[in-house]
Amino acid sequence: MGREANGEIVRANLGPFRPYLITRPEHLQYVLRDNVDNFRREGMMWKPVGRLVGDTSDLGASWNIRRRVYQNLLSAPSTALVADEMTATIAEAVDVLGERAADGRPVDAYGEMTRIVYRTIIRVLLGDRIELSKIDQLGEAMVTATTSSFRSRMLMPFIPFSVPLPGDRTFNRAVRALDDLVFPIVHEARRREDDGSRDVVSMLIHARGDDGAALDDKAVRDGIVGLFMAATDTTVSILTFLWGALDAYPDVRTKLYDEIDRVVGTGPARYDDVPKLTYTKMVLQEALRLFSVGWITPRGVREDDVIDGVRLKAGSTIAISPFLTHRLPDVWPQPHVFDPERFVSDRSRHRFAFMAFGGGPHQCAGRVFFYIEAPLILATLLSRYRPVLASPQPIEPRVDLTLKPRERVEITLQPVRR
Ligand code: HEM
Repeated sequence: MGREANGEIVRANLGPFRPYLITRPEHLQYVLRDNVDNFRREGMMWKPVGRLVGDTSDLGASWNIRRRVYQNLLSAPSTALVADEMTATIAEAVDVLGERAADGRPVDAYGEMTRIVYRTIIRVLLGDRIELSKIDQLGEAMVTATTSSFRSRMLMPFIPFSVPLPGDRTFNRAVRALDDLVFPIVHEARRREDDGSRDVVSMLIHARGDDGAALDDKAVRDGIVGLFMAATDTTVSILTFLWGALDAYPDVRTKLYDEIDRVVGTGPARYDDVPKLTYTKMVLQEALRLFSVGWITPRGVREDDVIDGVRLKAGSTIAISPFLTHRLPDVWPQPHVFDPERFVSDRSRHRFAFMAFGGGPHQCAGRVFFYIEAPLILATLLSRYRPVLASPQPIEPRVDLTLKPRERVEITLQPVRR
């Protein structure tokens, strides 16, 4: 549908559900920034997301508190404070990967990236509030919750929750498992004196709205779960798709390895290395463009509106898809080619042409954090190993809350000889 529409605003025909497809950068700017109050996070994907992380729709008090906490927690200065902890956690996680892939044994890339990303994020954002063994349980519960009935709920938002769909029970079980892990952390944090911790739990508990009101336990739990949902799946998927791109583009691979050898040497990568890893960042940007793991960020239309002469009806849904915007040939020439050089400069591009992190007031709060975390993971891994794709190309995407590889992706690791 995206290819046929080629940037025009069309209505997708999904039976009783007919969202408008909006892909052109100028149109996206109107929806996400210029007239943002008329386009809210409602319906479609937000209904099942809301079941998992509480209300996502409003730009009101609770969202404001959460958003401020996230921005503060994930800013470059705050990330710098936890950088040593982060690099040590990544180095340990890469060691474990090395052991698992010893003697050329193929490993499940998605599973391994999940383990590395979870350990990194959770250690950094939750500090010592959770035991190592529970980190994996949290990861499993989150993956189950966002896969079970999520896709059907997302594509059939008109079916009320009172009508059960296959996978609903598994979803409910996963939410209970998440609650059993997260609520005790919230209760324990409330019992502890304010010890000045700068993790997400402490920050959510101590945050106040403009009216001085605090978040209750459920809102704090939602803030924690919401952050993990946003931070983990996306990063894991992009790091997995990347192995396919590096396998298919040897020139990119060589340039990337050269940069990492030069900047990081035998590793592990350190925080100070990140600004020097310019090509590594371009490779990640190009992966985000081509694989657009946050493939859809729908909005509900509040009141009738008109974009470029097309009338949008109140109550309808807009499907915004970075995946499609990133494939418009007049915006991104030869869109199917993996070419990091596109990102040497983005001055000539429309601000809403690169949509991997969304735009406007809901723009990804973890963008800066991602560009620190992902290069650290990538450079630490590649300073020691050369991953070789051991499963078939191309890695086809599967639609879920985020895009994931459809089939199991396997890699083997060749130790770097110096
Ligand atoms: C591959 C990496 C990532 C991608 C592609 C991505 C993509 C996105 C997108 C498209 C949105 C906007 C949703 C909308 O417009 O409705 C978003 C929101 C968000 N992201 Fe990310 N993200 C990534 C990594 C991260 C990381 C690492 C974190 C945290 C450490 C994070 C935290 C958030 C949060 C908290 C929001 C919600 C913002 C709000 O509601 O105001 N993301 N992300």
